[in-house]
Amino acid sequence: MDSLNFLVLYFCLLLVSSQITSSSVIKMKTSASSFGFDPTRVTQLSWTPRAFLYKRFLSDEECDHLINLAKGKLVKSMVVTDDDTGESVESEERTSSGMFLFKRQDDIVANVEARLAAWTFLPEENGESIQVLHYENGQKYEPHFDFYYDTKTLKNGGHRVATVLMYLSNVTKGGETVFPMWKGKLPQLKDDSWSECAKQGYAVKPKKGDALLFFDLHPNATTDETSLHGSCPVIEGEKWSATKWIHVRSYGKRQIGCVDMNESCEEWAKEGECEKNPNYMVGSDTNLGYCRKSCKAC
Ligand SMILES: *[C@@H]1O[C@H](CO)[C@@H](O)[C@H](O)[C@H]1NC(C)=O
Ligand SMILES: *[C@@H]1O[C@H](CO)[C@@H](O)[C@H](O)[C@H]1NC(C)=O
Ligand SMILES: *[C@@H]1O[C@H](CO)[C@@H](O)[C@H](O)[C@H]1NC(C)=O
Repeated sequence: MDSLNFLVLYFCLLLVSSQITSSSVIKMKTSASSFGFDPTRVTQLSWTPRAFLYKRFLSDEECDHLINLAKGKLVKSMVVTDDDTGESVESEERTSSGMFLFKRQDDIVANVEARLAAWTFLPEENGESIQVLHYENGQKYEPHFDFYYDTKTLKNGGHRVATVLMYLSNVTKGGETVFPMWKGKLPQLKDDSWSECAKQGYAVKPKKGDALLFFDLHPNATTDETSLHGSCPVIEGEKWSATKWIHVRSYGKRQIGCVDMNESCEEWAKEGECEKNPNYMVGSDTNLGYCRKSCKAC
């Protein structure tokens, strides 16, 4: 072997071995679930409420993708207020703007949703579709609960059991998620890099790619008052986040038989969307798509 060949071989081996060490985290290797998660990046923040932080849950590219899907489609956020009807109204308490994506809207969204299910141990079908939120200077969401009392909303999937907040951007100052009713043994020490609002309780700084999971219900399924949380006003910069609410039961319309779930399915199928966007259109055995009839998948 001449020295050039030797060098090429040597560098190939070096490359292979460095890849082995960098990917030595626990991953589920079965084909059904290649959506592994890395437990070394998850820390428990609190037990009252039960809250966990997953560092770098989303890649920068995934964050940017979610923002781009929402850009230009944002409307002023509403809050559910009427306890009997579950009607939404515009509010002073919540000044962000946002929009809901579709479940499994594209491959990237589908992959994020599968990873959320793997991490939270809660089935994908129990989740609402992801909501992308944008907070500009001064915009906030006053502390509130994610579980609700109105009877109409409870019929669909029951209470929200858990909330995952995914931070899609860094915020220069403010925009922390705060839990004013947090009960810890020792106070969380905060220097001047935190906003005054964040000092009301336990707080989490938004960092691009990080995901915060907290439970709205106790393990015995009663509502957890310490899950009260808010989004502090953005003081400098802007905040993008994505929320996944997960219910105790399957949420959303149930599909019975061979049906289309959207009036545009036939049209989309003609345009080749069944092949281009199979996650949304066809889905899988455990997660049926929206246009199975038009895609002749049933
Ligand atoms: C966001 O902040 C983190 C940590 O402070 C930093 O590592 C990262 O590069 C920042 N990302 C962007 C896009 O500014
Ligand atoms: C449910 O669990 C919470 C927290 O552990 C506890 O405070 C509450 O009393 C329990 N409620 C019932 C009905 O068991
Ligand atoms: C069908 O899809 C369109 C476009 O994505 C959406 O605006 C509409 O709300 C959907 N209709 C139903 C019934 O889900």
